[in-house]
Amino acid sequence: MVVKLSTEQRWKAIEENCCMPGYPTQYILKRKHWPVYVEGHGIYLTDTEGRDYIDATSGFMCCTLGHGNKRVIEAIKEQLDKLDYVLPGHNDASIKLCQRVAEVTPGDLNHVFIGLCGSDANEEALSLARQYFKNRGKQNSIIVSQWHSYHGQTLDAVSMTAVPQMKTTHGRDVASINNGVYHIAAPYCYRCDYGLEYPSCGIQCAKALDVFARNVGPENIVAFFGEPVLGSSGSVSPPPEYYPMIRQICDEHGFLLIMDEVMTGWGRTGEVFACNHWNVVPDIMTMAKGISSAYLPVAAVAFGERVNDAFRGQAFPYQGHTHSMYPAGAAASLAAIDVLMEERLWENAAKVGAHLKGRLEEIGKQSEIVGAVHGLGLHLGLEIVEDKQSKKPGRRLAAAIVTKCEEKGVLTMREEPSSIPVVPPLIITAEEADHLCDVLSEAIKETESAGRK
Ligand SMILES: Cc1ncc(COP(=O)(O)O)c(C=O)c1O
Repeated sequence: MVVKLSTEQRWKAIEENCCMPGYPTQYILKRKHWPVYVEGHGIYLTDTEGRDYIDATSGFMCCTLGHGNKRVIEAIKEQLDKLDYVLPGHNDASIKLCQRVAEVTPGDLNHVFIGLCGSDANEEALSLARQYFKNRGKQNSIIVSQWHSYHGQTLDAVSMTAVPQMKTTHGRDVASINNGVYHIAAPYCYRCDYGLEYPSCGIQCAKALDVFARNVGPENIVAFFGEPVLGSSGSVSPPPEYYPMIRQICDEHGFLLIMDEVMTGWGRTGEVFACNHWNVVPDIMTMAKGISSAYLPVAAVAFGERVNDAFRGQAFPYQGHTHSMYPAGAAASLAAIDVLMEERLWENAAKVGAHLKGRLEEIGKQSEIVGAVHGLGLHLGLEIVEDKQSKKPGRRLAAAIVTKCEEKGVLTMREEPSSIPVVPPLIITAEEADHLCDVLSEAIKETESAGRK
């Protein structure tokens, strides 16, 4: 039975019992607005009032296949009809999923854990990388991450996360979550930490890893942990030279490259994995979101032969969680991967994404408050600023655009401080993308002219 609340019942539960992720209850009550969706079909969601919206968020960049995919839903039902839960790993669906992930990931990423969420996958990747050096009798302990990257909410994951506005918002201060993690400048050309311009910069942000390694001593570093496209900072994609240079620096100094493909993986950027754009194979790759198109919570960590070799005859360092290798989650992922691969949806992401980006750039040229258009494939984002000269983040303007889009039937969201991801499901057509752009363009123009009054 599907739960349905009356408006009064819903507000009572929100006021008295419900802690919404990311929103103070008082804010929601004051706004008297909390949309609830009851159905999803393809790229559309329907709310309690029967209004349809284009889901330009893919629900936190997860729903790669769109909503209501019958093959995935049937696979979950069939699995649950046969077997609900069993000790982790003692079911064929999760064993098969490890094999399927190994087949689809690039290079020799042949060894796979199945977990629950992106944060969990990143914790596993770090445990694995640290233990890899211990097994080889080494003392390496430092992790290098990027400013503006996001890796999750658990202890190691939040230590690596460095979206500036989030750094102190987890009930812990910056010092207490350092955990052996150091951050270097990100490949964020619009706000280059060195004040340089691409390509004459020579990709200083990649060279920063080499400088850091030589200063701290490469024998102390476990891994560089990169987010291929800085998703929570507005879909900021790196220059094409960046990851090949990073791979080379890791190899020269002998530490590992870990790539967090939690948001970018499974077709979002126009390749099955973002690292394929640059022909770079990491030593460890983490995945979640699109692996099951979010029909159930599933994550994976895949690693290569070099890492695996350090564990021959020894258990891997990670115990997993109660629901690691969960049968229904694995069944959902197997079906989602089949749909993605058979329909070659990353190609649609590349094609429609290029068209969408072109239109967003046109909108950006005509607007004083669109500072930059970022991204690759259907992992796009608009950076909203108070004006192009100052580049000051336009937090209030971005919030106003999101509200106007919602009123006009397009769901978007604001990322800290002022970017709007444009990340619809990978099944979107060029016509639907045009409609999405028309709505965004109207919302931006209205917000801009209201700001001038
Ligand atoms: C790049 C990246 N890594 C890790 C995470 C954390 O994933 P989860 O929220 O499933 O724990 C996210 C979540 O948005 C993410 O975008």
